[in-house]
Amino acid sequence: MKDYKRTLVTAALPYANGPVHIGHLAGVYVPADIYVRYLRLRGREVLFVCGSDEHGVPITIKAREQGCSPQDIVDRYHGIIDGSFKALGINFDIYGRTSSKVHEQNASAFFRKLYDEGKFISKESEQYYDPEAKTFLADRYIVGTCPKCGNENAYGDQCEKCGCTLSPEELINPKSKLSGAEPVKKKTTHWYLPLQDYEQWLREWILEGHKEWRPNVYGQVKSWLDGGLQPRAVTRDLDWGVPVPVEGAEGKVLYVWFDAPIGYISNTMELLPDSWEQWWKSEDTKLVHFIGKDNIVFHCIVFPSMLKAYGDGFILPDNVPSNEFLNLEGEKISTSRGWAVWAHEYVRDFPGKEDALRYTLTANAPETKDNDFSWKDFQSRNNSELVAIFGNFVNRAFVLTHKYFGGKVPARGEMTEADREALAAIPQLRLSLEKNIEGYHFREALKDAMSMARVGNKYISDTEPWKLAKTDMERTASILNVCLQICADLAIAFEPFTPFACEALRGMLGLDLSWEDLGRDGIVPEGHQLGEARLLFTKVEDADIQKQLDRLAAIKAEREAAAKAEEAKRVSPQKAEVSFEDFSAMDIRTATVLEAERVPKTDKLLKLTIDTGIDKRVIVSGIAEYYSPEDMLGKQICILANLAPRKIRGIESKGMILMARQGDGKMRFITPAEALNNGAEIG
Ligand code: MF3
Ligand code: ZN
Repeated sequence: MKDYKRTLVTAALPYANGPVHIGHLAGVYVPADIYVRYLRLRGREVLFVCGSDEHGVPITIKAREQGCSPQDIVDRYHGIIDGSFKALGINFDIYGRTSSKVHEQNASAFFRKLYDEGKFISKESEQYYDPEAKTFLADRYIVGTCPKCGNENAYGDQCEKCGCTLSPEELINPKSKLSGAEPVKKKTTHWYLPLQDYEQWLREWILEGHKEWRPNVYGQVKSWLDGGLQPRAVTRDLDWGVPVPVEGAEGKVLYVWFDAPIGYISNTMELLPDSWEQWWKSEDTKLVHFIGKDNIVFHCIVFPSMLKAYGDGFILPDNVPSNEFLNLEGEKISTSRGWAVWAHEYVRDFPGKEDALRYTLTANAPETKDNDFSWKDFQSRNNSELVAIFGNFVNRAFVLTHKYFGGKVPARGEMTEADREALAAIPQLRLSLEKNIEGYHFREALKDAMSMARVGNKYISDTEPWKLAKTDMERTASILNVCLQICADLAIAFEPFTPFACEALRGMLGLDLSWEDLGRDGIVPEGHQLGEARLLFTKVEDADIQKQLDRLAAIKAEREAAAKAEEAKRVSPQKAEVSFEDFSAMDIRTATVLEAERVPKTDKLLKLTIDTGIDKRVIVSGIAEYYSPEDMLGKQICILANLAPRKIRGIESKGMILMARQGDGKMRFITPAEALNNGAEIG
């Protein structure tokens, strides 16, 4: 492994068209923050860069929907996102934005250099154009009927109902979202990065050189490369973004996925105008991109190819740890359906419990496969791990030291086997923790930290110093001394994961601790005065969890009701033509229900005795789901009188009641607009 001098950590720039949710946190920001905190604690030189991704079509659509400008949208969400990261202790060195001046200039110059050096190819193609709004239409601006499922609101790139990917050409009745006009094809010129030229180089760099990357990342890269790379458009016809700095390119902007990754560089420049190059152009810098799995191709193939094309000493990532997705209560997180836990709402609803979320998201991190977040699991991880193990152990050690020794660290006497074992476990776990964090296995690393807390908690429970204090103060002193050493170890080991509790604990210990102290016996000196004991964690109450579950249940109920209403509107296609003679052969009449009863041992059938004007007869009808016998008594209905009789459950049924059935299956009988005599002919 290479020995680097410094580490540049980037976390994917979140789109500023909505707040961030727990999926983003678990996938990208919490692991990146853990990694950075760990390196800092070890005294390494680190830079942690992030910012808002403020371009792209969805932002312009949202602005249009809300009747404001795209800048208003990104201003609003930039603030919300920035605030929720800070509240959760995710401390970037800079949280910039791609709508900044620095970025516009940087991205523009980046494009211009590649353009001047002939690194792009330009191609003319036909794209959809709105003849009324006089503008080209991005895929998301075209809606129409999905050819697969009939959803009338499918987008030009995807149907959100059945999930299929589409191209605008496939939509039935395509319409512009802007004007409602039917889009037409129009010629336009765009610039493309010929990715195929970088294929061989990418193969060598990643497939040969980075076999240690996570299997999901390596596998995705391999399948892209094996599938053959194509030129990728780096410009768009759109009025929101970085203008294409080329004459004759009016109305064109850089494609969001071209400008956004350059944003990492721009944000570094903004923070360190004089020394940013040391972070981006030095072989001594280790570059690590934290991303979600939907970003793999852009960070492993497109952005590296852009940097390679640019040259000038830009470094490439040493690793691109990418997570799978986090589900919520067994269902895919969906921003549009509101199925999410939003970071800014969490910090509002659970003040003081920032660590609990970081902890749960790490313990359940979707590192190797999609994983699930459930509120019950959150509650139990908080209550039975953070509170009952880590918090409880520290609390007992501090309270007892205050009670028996006035808060002064007591002296240690002769060591027992149990003392030695407890203390010896820590350096072992430290090694494993280090290996796990440096290998980007944060779940496992957290388990190591928790194992340290378990060691302490078991030790104090087994040795019972509160009992010994009655008979053997010297032994009590030894035990509490050992416990306090482990408390200090926890303050160090947990810092990357639960920084708020660790800050409090360091305050209680009154010690300056570094990573090198972890597992070193005697970090807490004898006679040292401890601060007051404070609870590091508090319980999550059932009522708080219930509130969250109720909110999700309401979303689900609303969604189901909307789906039902949609379904009810569905109309089945017209049947094949029939002749007038065929129709006239049917004898349809009015009739009145005289008696009605359930057919025994069935759920669906009613036996109706009716007056048809011709006769009194019995009809067995499958309407019990919709009507009780009382509902039917005395009602005037319409029947097909000359339907051949059938035996149903041993009862002869003569004729059939006419019912109207809508898309969701709901049925109602048909009744004349005013009472008629029975036997009136219908037709
Ligand atoms: N905004 C993108 C997303 O949320 C990530 C952009 S990462 C960057 O998926 F590299 F392009 F900045
Ligand atoms: Zn569909």
